[in-house]
Amino acid sequence: MPMILWVTLVAYCTLSYPEIKWDWDKIETDKVYFPKRFMWGTVTAAHQVEGNNTNNNWYHWEYQKDNNGISRIHNNEKSGMAANHWNLYNKDISLMNELGVQYYRFSVEWSRIEPEKGIINEDALDHYRDVCIALIDSGLTPVVTLHHFTHPMWFENLGGFEKEENINYFIKFSEIVFNKLSDIVPFWCTINEPAVYVSQGYFNGVFPPGKKDPLLAGYVMKNLLNTHVRVYRHLKTLPHGTSAQIGLVKNITQFDPLRRWHVLDWYFSKKLNDVFTNNTIDLLSKGEFEFHLPGIADIYFKNNDAINALDFIGLNYYSRMHVKGHLSPLAPFTFELRPEDTQTDMPYAIYPEGFYRAVKTISKIGVPIIITENGIADDKDNRRKIFIERYLYALYKSILHGYDVRGYFYWSLMDNFEWAEGYMMKFGLYEVDFITQERKLRSGSHAFVKLVNQPGADKRGYTVSVGEIAPDLLLEYTDGLKVRLSELRGRIVFYNLPLAGALCAFKRCRTLRKMCGKGLKITDWY
Ligand code: FCB
Repeated sequence: MPMILWVTLVAYCTLSYPEIKWDWDKIETDKVYFPKRFMWGTVTAAHQVEGNNTNNNWYHWEYQKDNNGISRIHNNEKSGMAANHWNLYNKDISLMNELGVQYYRFSVEWSRIEPEKGIINEDALDHYRDVCIALIDSGLTPVVTLHHFTHPMWFENLGGFEKEENINYFIKFSEIVFNKLSDIVPFWCTINEPAVYVSQGYFNGVFPPGKKDPLLAGYVMKNLLNTHVRVYRHLKTLPHGTSAQIGLVKNITQFDPLRRWHVLDWYFSKKLNDVFTNNTIDLLSKGEFEFHLPGIADIYFKNNDAINALDFIGLNYYSRMHVKGHLSPLAPFTFELRPEDTQTDMPYAIYPEGFYRAVKTISKIGVPIIITENGIADDKDNRRKIFIERYLYALYKSILHGYDVRGYFYWSLMDNFEWAEGYMMKFGLYEVDFITQERKLRSGSHAFVKLVNQPGADKRGYTVSVGEIAPDLLLEYTDGLKVRLSELRGRIVFYNLPLAGALCAFKRCRTLRKMCGKGLKITDWY
């Protein structure tokens, strides 16, 4: 490549995608405020915590070996009894109460509800209804995920989501669960992380079905996203469908160039961001999907039904990956760590700035955002506190800048079976002793408890520092008329509220409560 082209491309990319880096020494992470009605919650997924799930794709995967005779799961572990949440859910609900959260996101296990094709186990459905009732009785709101990486073996044997015609089975199952629970469950997640399911199961081959077939990966991605759209549209037609809040859960992992001066690193980062994230955003906002990997896959489709086929988008965010490009067709890129970063126990670093970036990226879909997962694997519990403080600072900052984030769910309530990593990864706010099934709050988790129990921002007024952008608060005149701050900026503020206008213009917005003292009061953030 001619030098001039290289320099131009790299300059263009570097300027267009600056690497955000905050000076954490100067940031006061304890000065964060969240709205009064902010949804605080914790998350689990059925197979990771329930125990004794013996009829799904993951159970079978746990008993398989790769070509070298090595177990698919780290240390040859099995999910086994996991955290025995199936039986201990009441105890776990009391743990949620101790934290002070008001929401619980969990998944229903399809293989328990429909163990054989077309055969419904009413006891399993009743169990999940009991869990929801127990939550509600304890002041918690259930958030149900319909597909979190697992499905019955009969579905896997039929080809799972590789085949478009199989989507109908999942729609039928979703309808059954929805009919059973929608009178008491207001929030629904259709599918957890389609891109992770696809990249791990069809690209890296470390999740079932363990394939390494990028073209097939593209088709499965297409089918999963269309499944979401069809399930969403279908559930909306059922009783309670209109009032239910139904969304998709999207993981964002940014792919950033390891070497910001290297064209190949930029090229592969862009490709990966496109197939992992951007195509989902395009589908849900514009009805267009593209999965393009030169010489390997070129899948394009339009689905106008997909536009706005969600009431909220669930964002799962953990970290980013650094991409290094190579001139080798066998391994065109690899992921590498930067030695200066603070690592988590997973193969990625603590990167709170990325959380802010992810919120910004996902906001392009144009619907409210709920953080459906965020957390750290930290066996030593020596990074959890800083992780929580910094990631929640990043989230606060995104709300401050006007992004419509409605809630935050911590992954995870307690330690659990971390898929291919087995039990080695300790994501729990509560540490679990898997022999005695005792749970113990980790010291680092207190940072989360503190934030959850802090009074909502609107109770204390809202302070905007000089030069900072105020969030788009909903304000109310004393006569009851409601107005957004953005509508007041400029002309109207000066016309209606000379005092506020003067403060705004000359001192830059200081305290909104003060600024809006004459005839306006802050009611809420939305
Ligand atoms: C997410 C999964 C969740 C858990 C966390 C650590 O990708 O949705 O089940 O494994 O990662």
